[in-house]
Amino acid sequence: MKLGRQEVQDQTNCELAEVPENPEMLDVRVWRGTQQGEWQHFSVPKRDNQTILDVVTWIQRHIDPGLSYRFACRVGMCGSCAMTVTGRPRWTCRTHVAQVLSEGVLEIGPLRNLPVIKDLAVDMAPFFEKWRDAGGHFEGAKTRHDPPAQVSPNSANREEADLGIECINCGVCNAACEVVRWNGRYLGPAALNRAWTLEVDERDQSTETRHQGIWGEAGAFNCHSHGNCTVHCPVGLDPARSIAGLKRRALGRSGKGGGT
Ligand code: FES
Repeated sequence: MKLGRQEVQDQTNCELAEVPENPEMLDVRVWRGTQQGEWQHFSVPKRDNQTILDVVTWIQRHIDPGLSYRFACRVGMCGSCAMTVTGRPRWTCRTHVAQVLSEGVLEIGPLRNLPVIKDLAVDMAPFFEKWRDAGGHFEGAKTRHDPPAQVSPNSANREEADLGIECINCGVCNAACEVVRWNGRYLGPAALNRAWTLEVDERDQSTETRHQGIWGEAGAFNCHSHGNCTVHCPVGLDPARSIAGLKRRALGRSGKGGGT
């Protein structure tokens, strides 16, 4: 494709971005299809400060409108844009091409460990079903007629919960987890991290249903402590620490060790 000097309108953020004459081109391989499919090559103009999401968006708007992918906020908050980029799971709206470009080829595929709907869009339903199975919803004992619960920001439990509550549910940790890859039933780091933040929440009524999930056959004891979840978490959370906390608490409850 020959590009002259032109202004390309980014229809999402309404900015006008200038593409220089005879721009350097990126060689991009993008997954097309479902679980079965093939890599398709695209040539995309290289730009300063270009993100992986910018590359995918450019392909869809300028070459193939049928390319399927998912995003919403473009600023690292919604968690919907995660993909596999040159072999690693990443949030694509905050990953710059310059960070990941190796040997001139950029490879962009769907997130691992989830069914592929089409191209770069995966089915997140199994991911959120694991949240449900891990009891990932708050269960308080108070009613609207009770005074608000008071939790000291300096309490050990509150500080422990603070370390895990900023999860954006992007699925990157789930995609990075080798145990999830081997055992699709394993609840995985995101759901167990969420469960841990509730277990240490002084207001939450920790229920037997949750405990059956987090300490059951598909629960925390499947974790091999590889730590890939923590290494890849784009917002810097430490799900491996949360899962270790769940294991300690289970042992404490069974009288075999000290609980958190
Ligand atoms: Fe929202 Fe990337 S688009 S986190």
